[in-house]
Amino acid sequence: MRLEGKVALISGGARGIGEAIARLFAREGACVTIGDILEDEGQRVAREIDDAGGRALFVRLDVTVEEEWRRAVQATVERFGQLNVLVNNAGIYRKELVDETSVEAWDEVMGVNARGVFLGSKHAIPEMKKAGGGSIVNMSSGAGLVGNPNGAAYGASKGAVRILTKATAAQYGKYSIRANSIHPGPIETAMLRPQLLDPGARESSLEAIPLGRIGTPQEIAYGALYLASDESSYVTGVELPIDGGRVAI
Ligand SMILES: NC(=O)c1ccc[n+]([C@@H]2O[C@H](COP(=O)([O-])OP(=O)(O)OC[C@H]3O[C@@H](n4cnc5c(N)ncnc54)[C@H](O)[C@@H]3O)[C@@H](O)[C@H]2O)c1
Repeated sequence: MRLEGKVALISGGARGIGEAIARLFAREGACVTIGDILEDEGQRVAREIDDAGGRALFVRLDVTVEEEWRRAVQATVERFGQLNVLVNNAGIYRKELVDETSVEAWDEVMGVNARGVFLGSKHAIPEMKKAGGGSIVNMSSGAGLVGNPNGAAYGASKGAVRILTKATAAQYGKYSIRANSIHPGPIETAMLRPQLLDPGARESSLEAIPLGRIGTPQEIAYGALYLASDESSYVTGVELPIDGGRVAI
């Protein structure tokens, strides 16, 4: 198994991409902590992982609140003994353009998508140092690599994640702590569903993708698995698009 003996904390693990990552990591031998504000969904995912023979813990975690990160990391170490992998996956999307974005909306998106990643990294790193190393996988977006025709705060927050990842790689390589970002294209989850319901928007989205289809949460989870595992032991500071070729053209 590819994550045997590892302990992973996954933010936003109650549904969508984070849920797929939690389930895959558990199947590959990791003990997983699912942190999310969706308590019922998160508890259910953790229970189902346990029932399938894995080891999972749910903790309520609002990634914008420093104290909740402190508790999530502490609960993980108390239950599973260490922390080796952090997946900063929780995120929210808003599609307002620059001149339509309120200050409140800007702060909300930056709070979850950028501050959340910073706080998670801040509190996981000391435990990874104790464990002799670790892997941080940050969920950015294609919108963190190139300009997006929709959204203002979203792309800015995902661009912040991209560079924070590289700074983390630069600062903690000496402790064998790696940090890499994943840049999904459009993936079939609750976040994207409202846009995919509009046939025009779906059509134009598909035209921009060489592989000609929307991706699945599982396809992102496999990228996270590689970056979390020791197979990527010499990989740090990289950005991995998983997007059907969207940012290649
Ligand atoms: N779906 C896509 O097309 C797509 C594309 C590029 C990037 N992403 C990124 O992938 C990640 C996962 O998105 P998804 O598509 O699975 O969306 P989703 O909405 O299905 O899942 C997001 C999860 O994050 C959780 N979350 C939101 N705010 C939180 C908070 N303050 N604290 C803790 N948890 C919180 C939600 O409860 C949910 O479980 C996000 O960072 C998103 O920006 C998604």
